Amino acid sequence: MTLRSMCLHTAAMGVRTSAVHPLTRTGSVILRRYAYKKGDGRRTFSRPQFPRDLTANPHTPNTATMSTRRISAYLPDEEVFGRSARFHNSFLIAPDEALEFARKNSGEKGLPEIAVSPAEGKFLHLLVRTIGAKRILEVGTLGGYSSIWMGRALPEGGEIISLELSDHHAQVARENVAKAGLGNVVKIIQGPAADSLKTLQPGDEPFDFVFIDADKDNNLTYLLEAKRLTRKGAVIIVDNTVREGAVADLSKTDGPNEGVRKLLAHLKTDTELSATTVSTIGERVWDGFTYILKL
Ligand SMILES: C[S@@+](CC[C@H](N)C(=O)[O-])C[C@H]1O[C@@H](n2cnc3c(N)ncnc32)[C@H](O)[C@@H]1O
Repeated sequence: MTLRSMCLHTAAMGVRTSAVHPLTRTGSVILRRYAYKKGDGRRTFSRPQFPRDLTANPHTPNTATMSTRRISAYLPDEEVFGRSARFHNSFLIAPDEALEFARKNSGEKGLPEIAVSPAEGKFLHLLVRTIGAKRILEVGTLGGYSSIWMGRALPEGGEIISLELSDHHAQVARENVAKAGLGNVVKIIQGPAADSLKTLQPGDEPFDFVFIDADKDNNLTYLLEAKRLTRKGAVIIVDNTVREGAVADLSKTDGPNEGVRKLLAHLKTDTELSATTVSTIGERVWDGFTYILKL
Protein backbone atom coordinates (compact mmCIF):
# COMPACT_ATOMS: atom_id res chain seq x y z
CA MET A 1 0.00 0.00 0.00
CA THR A 2 1.43 3.39 -0.93
CA LEU A 3 1.52 6.32 1.41
CA ARG A 4 -0.85 8.09 -0.93
CA SER A 5 -3.43 5.39 -0.52
CA MET A 6 -3.11 5.56 3.25
CA CYS A 7 -3.46 9.30 3.65
CA LEU A 8 -6.92 10.72 3.17
CA HIS A 9 -8.58 13.85 4.37
CA THR A 10 -11.62 12.95 6.36
CA ALA A 11 -13.36 16.07 5.12
CA ALA A 12 -13.06 14.83 1.57
CA MET A 13 -14.45 11.47 2.57
CA GLY A 14 -17.37 12.81 4.56
CA VAL A 15 -16.81 10.46 7.48
CA ARG A 16 -17.93 11.01 11.04
CA THR A 17 -15.19 12.80 12.89
CA SER A 18 -17.20 14.64 15.49
CA ALA A 19 -15.42 12.83 18.29
CA VAL A 20 -12.08 14.43 17.49
CA HIS A 21 -13.10 17.70 15.85
CA PRO A 22 -13.06 19.61 19.14
CA LEU A 23 -9.50 18.45 19.64
CA THR A 24 -8.08 19.72 16.38
CA ARG A 25 -7.36 23.16 14.99
CA THR A 26 -8.86 24.50 11.76
CA GLY A 27 -7.04 23.08 8.76
CA SER A 28 -5.66 20.07 10.57
CA VAL A 29 -5.93 16.70 8.90
CA ILE A 30 -7.24 13.60 10.57
CA LEU A 31 -6.00 10.37 9.16
CA ARG A 32 -7.90 7.14 9.01
CA ARG A 33 -7.17 3.80 7.49
CA TYR A 34 -9.13 2.47 4.60
CA ALA A 35 -9.17 -0.66 2.55
CA TYR A 36 -9.54 -0.61 -1.21
CA LYS A 37 -12.14 -3.10 -2.28
CA LYS A 38 -11.03 -4.78 -5.48
CA GLY A 39 -13.52 -5.62 -8.18
CA ASP A 40 -16.22 -2.98 -8.16
CA GLY A 41 -13.84 -0.05 -7.73
CA ARG A 42 -15.56 1.14 -4.55
CA ARG A 43 -13.66 1.97 -1.41
CA THR A 44 -14.65 0.49 1.90
CA PHE A 45 -13.47 2.04 5.11
CA SER A 46 -12.37 0.48 8.33
CA ARG A 47 -12.97 2.10 11.69
CA PRO A 48 -11.08 5.34 12.26
CA GLN A 49 -7.73 4.93 14.01
CA PHE A 50 -6.70 8.31 15.25
CA PRO A 51 -3.10 8.98 16.22
CA ARG A 52 -2.99 8.47 19.95
CA ASP A 53 -1.00 11.58 20.70
CA LEU A 54 -3.39 13.75 18.76
CA THR A 55 -6.34 12.80 20.93
CA ALA A 56 -4.21 12.85 24.08
CA ASN A 57 -2.74 16.29 23.50
CA PRO A 58 -4.58 18.25 20.83
CA HIS A 59 -2.51 21.39 21.10
CA THR A 60 0.86 19.83 20.49
CA PRO A 61 0.55 17.11 17.87
CA ASN A 62 3.62 14.88 17.85
CA THR A 63 6.23 14.94 15.10
CA ALA A 64 4.92 11.82 13.36
CA THR A 65 1.46 13.33 13.13
CA MET A 66 2.84 16.59 11.80
CA SER A 67 5.01 15.00 9.13
CA THR A 68 2.29 12.63 7.98
CA ARG A 69 -0.11 15.55 7.76
CA ARG A 70 2.28 17.61 5.67
CA ILE A 71 2.90 14.75 3.25
CA SER A 72 -0.77 13.85 2.99
CA ALA A 73 -1.57 17.42 2.10
CA TYR A 74 0.59 17.06 -0.98
CA LEU A 75 -0.71 13.69 -2.08
CA PRO A 76 -4.26 14.24 -3.23
CA ASP A 77 -3.86 13.04 -6.78
CA GLU A 78 -1.11 12.16 -9.23
CA GLU A 79 -2.70 14.59 -11.67
CA VAL A 80 -1.73 17.37 -9.31
CA PHE A 81 1.93 16.35 -9.40
CA GLY A 82 1.87 16.27 -13.20
CA ARG A 83 0.13 19.62 -13.43
CA SER A 84 2.63 21.18 -11.06
CA ALA A 85 5.60 19.74 -12.96
CA ARG A 86 4.20 20.89 -16.32
CA PHE A 87 3.55 24.36 -14.91
CA HIS A 88 7.12 24.80 -13.69
CA ASN A 89 8.60 23.19 -16.79
CA SER A 90 6.65 25.58 -19.00
CA PHE A 91 8.74 28.42 -17.55
CA LEU A 92 12.05 26.67 -17.05
CA ILE A 93 12.51 24.02 -19.73
CA ALA A 94 12.38 24.90 -23.40
CA PRO A 95 10.99 22.31 -25.82
CA ASP A 96 13.83 20.27 -27.28
CA GLU A 97 13.48 18.23 -30.44
CA ALA A 98 16.20 15.70 -29.61
CA LEU A 99 14.92 15.03 -26.10
CA GLU A 100 11.38 14.67 -27.38
CA PHE A 101 12.63 12.30 -30.09
CA ALA A 102 14.47 10.25 -27.46
CA ARG A 103 11.31 9.78 -25.41
CA LYS A 104 9.12 9.01 -28.43
CA ASN A 105 11.61 6.68 -30.10
CA SER A 106 12.26 4.84 -26.83
CA GLY A 107 8.52 4.33 -26.32
CA GLU A 108 8.01 3.12 -29.88
CA LYS A 109 10.89 0.67 -29.50
CA GLY A 110 9.31 -0.80 -26.36
CA LEU A 111 11.61 0.63 -23.69
CA PRO A 112 9.96 1.06 -20.29
CA GLU A 113 9.02 4.59 -19.21
CA ILE A 114 11.54 4.81 -16.41
CA ALA A 115 13.81 7.60 -17.60
CA VAL A 116 14.27 10.64 -15.39
CA SER A 117 11.62 13.35 -15.76
CA PRO A 118 12.42 16.53 -17.72
CA ALA A 119 12.88 18.44 -14.46
CA GLU A 120 15.26 15.79 -13.11
CA GLY A 121 17.13 15.77 -16.43
CA LYS A 122 17.53 19.53 -16.25
CA PHE A 123 18.66 19.20 -12.64
CA LEU A 124 21.42 16.77 -13.70
CA HIS A 125 22.33 19.14 -16.52
CA LEU A 126 22.65 22.07 -14.13
CA LEU A 127 24.69 20.05 -11.65
CA VAL A 128 27.15 19.05 -14.37
CA ARG A 129 27.51 22.67 -15.38
CA THR A 130 27.74 23.87 -11.79
CA ILE A 131 30.72 21.71 -10.96
CA GLY A 132 32.29 22.16 -14.40
CA ALA A 133 32.36 18.42 -15.01
CA LYS A 134 34.23 17.21 -18.07
CA ARG A 135 34.06 13.45 -17.62
CA ILE A 136 30.83 11.72 -16.59
CA LEU A 137 30.10 8.12 -15.70
CA GLU A 138 26.52 6.89 -15.98
CA VAL A 139 25.30 3.51 -14.74
CA GLY A 140 22.01 2.66 -16.49
CA THR A 141 21.55 4.22 -19.95
CA LEU A 142 18.07 3.05 -20.98
CA GLY A 143 17.32 5.16 -24.11
CA GLY A 144 19.94 7.79 -23.36
CA TYR A 145 17.50 10.45 -22.14
CA SER A 146 19.53 11.40 -19.07
CA SER A 147 22.75 10.98 -21.11
CA ILE A 148 21.52 13.64 -23.53
CA TRP A 149 20.65 16.05 -20.71
CA MET A 150 24.10 15.60 -19.18
CA GLY A 151 25.90 15.53 -22.53
CA ARG A 152 24.41 18.91 -23.39
CA ALA A 153 26.08 20.35 -20.28
CA LEU A 154 29.61 19.26 -21.17
CA PRO A 155 32.28 21.56 -22.51
CA GLU A 156 34.18 20.85 -25.73
CA GLY A 157 36.12 17.61 -25.35
CA GLY A 158 33.84 16.32 -22.57
CA GLU A 159 32.78 12.70 -22.42
CA ILE A 160 30.15 10.41 -20.92
CA ILE A 161 30.75 6.71 -20.42
CA SER A 162 27.32 5.13 -20.01
CA LEU A 163 26.86 1.49 -18.97
CA GLU A 164 23.84 -0.54 -20.05
CA LEU A 165 22.99 -4.21 -19.63
CA SER A 166 20.43 -4.55 -22.42
CA ASP A 167 21.65 -4.74 -25.98
CA HIS A 168 18.31 -3.40 -27.22
CA HIS A 169 18.35 -0.43 -24.83
CA ALA A 170 21.92 0.35 -25.83
CA GLN A 171 21.00 0.30 -29.53
CA VAL A 172 18.04 2.63 -29.05
CA ALA A 173 20.18 4.91 -26.87
CA ARG A 174 22.80 5.13 -29.62
CA GLU A 175 20.09 6.24 -32.08
CA ASN A 176 18.77 8.85 -29.65
CA VAL A 177 22.18 10.16 -28.73
CA ALA A 178 23.20 10.41 -32.40
CA LYS A 179 20.00 12.35 -33.15
CA ALA A 180 21.02 14.81 -30.40
CA GLY A 181 24.42 15.27 -32.07
CA LEU A 182 26.19 13.63 -29.14
CA GLY A 183 27.35 10.45 -30.89
CA ASN A 184 30.99 11.32 -30.21
CA VAL A 185 30.35 12.45 -26.65
CA VAL A 186 28.30 9.59 -25.16
CA LYS A 187 30.06 6.21 -25.27
CA ILE A 188 27.78 3.34 -24.38
CA ILE A 189 29.30 0.14 -23.05
CA GLN A 190 26.90 -2.79 -23.21
CA GLY A 191 27.02 -5.49 -20.53
CA PRO A 192 26.55 -5.90 -16.78
CA ALA A 193 27.73 -2.63 -15.25
CA ALA A 194 29.62 -4.38 -12.44
CA ASP A 195 31.81 -6.09 -15.07
CA SER A 196 32.20 -3.00 -17.26
CA LEU A 197 33.24 -0.92 -14.27
CA LYS A 198 36.11 -3.29 -13.49
CA THR A 199 37.60 -2.56 -16.92
CA LEU A 200 37.70 1.18 -16.26
CA GLN A 201 40.67 2.92 -14.65
CA PRO A 202 40.79 6.42 -13.16
CA GLY A 203 43.97 7.15 -15.17
CA ASP A 204 45.05 10.74 -15.70
CA GLU A 205 41.46 11.90 -16.05
CA PRO A 206 39.18 10.54 -13.36
CA PHE A 207 35.44 11.17 -13.57
CA ASP A 208 33.98 14.40 -12.18
CA PHE A 209 30.36 13.32 -12.01
CA VAL A 210 28.55 9.99 -11.71
CA PHE A 211 24.88 9.19 -12.16
CA ILE A 212 23.86 5.77 -10.79
CA ASP A 213 20.46 4.69 -12.09
CA ALA A 214 20.46 0.95 -12.84
CA ASP A 215 19.59 -2.19 -10.82
CA LYS A 216 19.24 -0.93 -7.26
CA ASP A 217 20.41 -4.22 -5.72
CA ASN A 218 23.95 -3.36 -6.84
CA ASN A 219 23.95 0.24 -5.64
CA LEU A 220 26.79 -0.31 -3.19
CA THR A 221 29.02 -1.97 -5.80
CA TYR A 222 28.37 0.96 -8.12
CA LEU A 223 29.08 3.48 -5.41
CA LEU A 224 32.41 1.86 -4.49
CA GLU A 225 33.44 1.72 -8.14
CA ALA A 226 32.35 5.32 -8.62
CA LYS A 227 34.46 6.31 -5.64
CA ARG A 228 37.47 4.50 -7.11
CA LEU A 229 37.05 6.16 -10.49
CA THR A 230 36.42 9.77 -9.43
CA ARG A 231 38.51 12.73 -8.35
CA LYS A 232 38.18 14.48 -5.00
CA GLY A 233 35.29 16.93 -5.20
CA ALA A 234 33.36 14.70 -7.59
CA VAL A 235 29.60 14.43 -7.23
CA ILE A 236 27.80 11.08 -7.31
CA ILE A 237 24.01 10.97 -7.63
CA VAL A 238 22.17 7.74 -6.85
CA ASP A 239 18.60 7.80 -8.12
CA ASN A 240 15.47 6.21 -6.58
CA THR A 241 16.66 5.97 -3.00
CA VAL A 242 13.34 6.76 -1.31
CA ARG A 243 10.94 4.49 -3.21
CA GLU A 244 7.70 5.86 -1.75
CA GLY A 245 9.15 5.46 1.73
CA ALA A 246 9.65 1.71 1.26
CA VAL A 247 13.39 1.94 1.99
CA ALA A 248 12.53 3.05 5.53
CA ASP A 249 10.00 0.22 5.92
CA LEU A 250 12.14 -2.68 7.13
CA SER A 251 9.37 -5.19 6.44
CA LYS A 252 10.10 -4.66 2.73
CA THR A 253 13.13 -6.86 2.15
CA ASP A 254 13.21 -7.00 -1.66
CA GLY A 255 16.49 -6.51 -3.53
CA PRO A 256 16.07 -2.85 -4.51
CA ASN A 257 15.14 -1.71 -0.98
CA GLU A 258 17.96 -3.76 0.55
CA GLY A 259 20.30 -2.34 -2.10
CA VAL A 260 19.50 1.20 -1.03
CA ARG A 261 19.84 0.29 2.66
CA LYS A 262 23.32 -1.17 2.07
CA LEU A 263 24.28 2.04 0.30
CA LEU A 264 23.04 4.13 3.24
CA ALA A 265 24.80 1.92 5.78
CA HIS A 266 28.06 2.36 3.89
CA LEU A 267 27.64 6.11 3.63
CA LYS A 268 27.19 6.31 7.38
CA THR A 269 30.71 5.03 7.98
CA ASP A 270 32.67 6.23 4.94
CA THR A 271 34.53 9.35 6.06
CA GLU A 272 35.66 10.12 2.51
CA LEU A 273 32.10 10.64 1.32
CA SER A 274 29.50 13.11 2.54
CA ALA A 275 25.89 12.64 1.46
CA THR A 276 22.27 13.61 1.82
CA THR A 277 19.03 12.20 0.46
CA VAL A 278 16.57 14.61 -1.11
CA SER A 279 13.02 13.32 -1.25
CA THR A 280 11.00 14.36 -4.29
CA ILE A 281 7.46 14.10 -5.54
CA GLY A 282 7.84 13.88 -9.26
CA GLU A 283 5.43 13.53 -12.13
CA ARG A 284 4.74 9.93 -11.25
CA VAL A 285 5.71 8.92 -7.75
CA TRP A 286 7.21 9.90 -4.44
CA ASP A 287 10.89 9.05 -4.61
CA GLY A 288 14.21 10.81 -4.18
CA PHE A 289 17.91 10.73 -4.83
CA THR A 290 21.06 10.63 -2.74
CA TYR A 291 23.65 13.32 -3.43
CA ILE A 292 27.17 12.28 -2.52
CA LEU A 293 30.30 14.42 -2.46
CA LYS A 294 33.71 12.78 -2.58
CA LEU A 295 35.80 14.64 -0.03
C1 LIG B 1 16.07 3.54 -14.79
S1 LIG B 1 16.78 2.97 -16.25
C2 LIG B 1 17.94 4.22 -16.63
C3 LIG B 1 17.28 5.49 -17.03
C4 LIG B 1 18.23 6.51 -17.60
N1 LIG B 1 19.28 6.84 -16.67
C5 LIG B 1 17.45 7.77 -17.91
O1 LIG B 1 17.05 8.46 -16.96
O2 LIG B 1 17.22 8.05 -19.10
C6 LIG B 1 17.77 1.64 -15.72
C7 LIG B 1 18.57 0.98 -16.81
O3 LIG B 1 19.55 0.17 -16.18
C8 LIG B 1 19.73 -0.98 -16.94
N2 LIG B 1 20.31 -2.03 -16.09
C9 LIG B 1 19.68 -2.87 -15.23
N3 LIG B 1 20.54 -3.70 -14.66
C10 LIG B 1 21.76 -3.40 -15.15
C11 LIG B 1 23.06 -3.90 -14.95
N4 LIG B 1 23.29 -4.92 -14.12
N5 LIG B 1 24.07 -3.32 -15.63
C12 LIG B 1 23.85 -2.29 -16.46
N6 LIG B 1 22.64 -1.78 -16.70
C13 LIG B 1 21.60 -2.31 -16.05
C14 LIG B 1 18.34 -1.32 -17.43
O4 LIG B 1 18.39 -2.17 -18.56
C15 LIG B 1 17.77 0.06 -17.72
O5 LIG B 1 17.96 0.39 -19.06
